[in-house]
Amino acid sequence: METRRNFIIKSAILCAVLSWPLSAATARAAAREFKTRSPQRALVVCYSQSGFTDRYGRLIGCTLRDRGLAVDLADMRHFDKKRMADYDLIWIGSPVFYYDIPQNVSDWLAGIPAIPGVPVAAFVSFGGPEGNQHNALCHVLHLLAEKGGVPAGMEAFRSIPSYPTPAWDSENQRSGEHLPDQATYNAVRRFATKTLDRIQQGTPISYASEIELRELARMLPLVWLNKKAISAHTVDKAKCILCGACVKKCPVDAIHPEKQRVDRDRCLACFGCLNNCPAGAVVISYRGQPLYGFPEYLRRRKIAILEPPEFGHCAL
Ligand SMILES: Cc1cc2nc3c(=O)[nH]c(=O)nc-3n(C[C@H](O)[C@H](O)[C@H](O)COP(=O)(O)O)c2cc1C
Ligand code: SF4
Ligand code: SF4
Repeated sequence: METRRNFIIKSAILCAVLSWPLSAATARAAAREFKTRSPQRALVVCYSQSGFTDRYGRLIGCTLRDRGLAVDLADMRHFDKKRMADYDLIWIGSPVFYYDIPQNVSDWLAGIPAIPGVPVAAFVSFGGPEGNQHNALCHVLHLLAEKGGVPAGMEAFRSIPSYPTPAWDSENQRSGEHLPDQATYNAVRRFATKTLDRIQQGTPISYASEIELRELARMLPLVWLNKKAISAHTVDKAKCILCGACVKKCPVDAIHPEKQRVDRDRCLACFGCLNNCPAGAVVISYRGQPLYGFPEYLRRRKIAILEPPEFGHCAL
């Protein structure tokens, strides 16, 4: 049966076919120079809902440490932006949500202080082939460049999707396919090393966002449509253990488990509360169907996620 999401995507594609132009590119050159070719202190800041972006960010940090840099890994929601001035290399990691970086990530990047000449790199994790990951990366670099950062690298790494509707498996997200494996982690290590090499050689990258069919899907009010499809969004008092995980993960402070309440106006329909509740206490009804979150998805499919061996000794 065709899902609402597929229907929306197909409608967007149809609009694109009927409209003009089909593809174009806007180049954003990074002509400026790095303020240093030998960075000493690197910051890796991630927003991550179900852990994939964090995992890739941490591996980047471990790889940089092996190259002799001092590295800090930070969660975007708890990092004091004023500290950005302490670093001479900055990496930003985000998942792709709704064909772009999430609103809370773009808001956060828009609010960072000036970082003139600082080498910057962007990485995203994504769950579907239609994910528009390239333009999401360009979006991150664009926001960093507006603050004076000089782009040194960009890369997307696939993962299994953390999108729970209407059912976990669909044609694009089959159980356990595209789990990060050794090849994924090698690509992450290569990305870190190559980006550092590029900085040492003094060669920034240019980036060009693409106007393509899937870009049109981004223009649809997907968050709004999803919120319309959510008929109930509460907390089950009987199951809730008041652990606070949903509160910590909610990017907009919209969930209040002690009152079993969600501020539906603030909510970004990111499913972070559902995907992080260890007790299955977050109740979301999507077009009449109850949803379950990422921990339950892993449990039901008996999926175990491989961790890079570095994590055994790299204390980031
Ligand atoms: C609300 C939501 C929207 C998503 N939208 C997309 C998307 O448009 N394209 C895509 O490739 N993946 C999408 N995904 C999947 C995530 O990008 C993917 O699972 C990512 O690796 C999650 O990273 P994290 O574990 O760091 O949160 C979405 C996931 C969620 C929860
Ligand atoms: S309430 Fe849940 S779905 Fe809404 S923004 Fe917060 S974490 Fe995301
Ligand atoms: S994550 Fe789940 S168990 Fe923990 S406070 Fe939120 S609703 Fe309650």
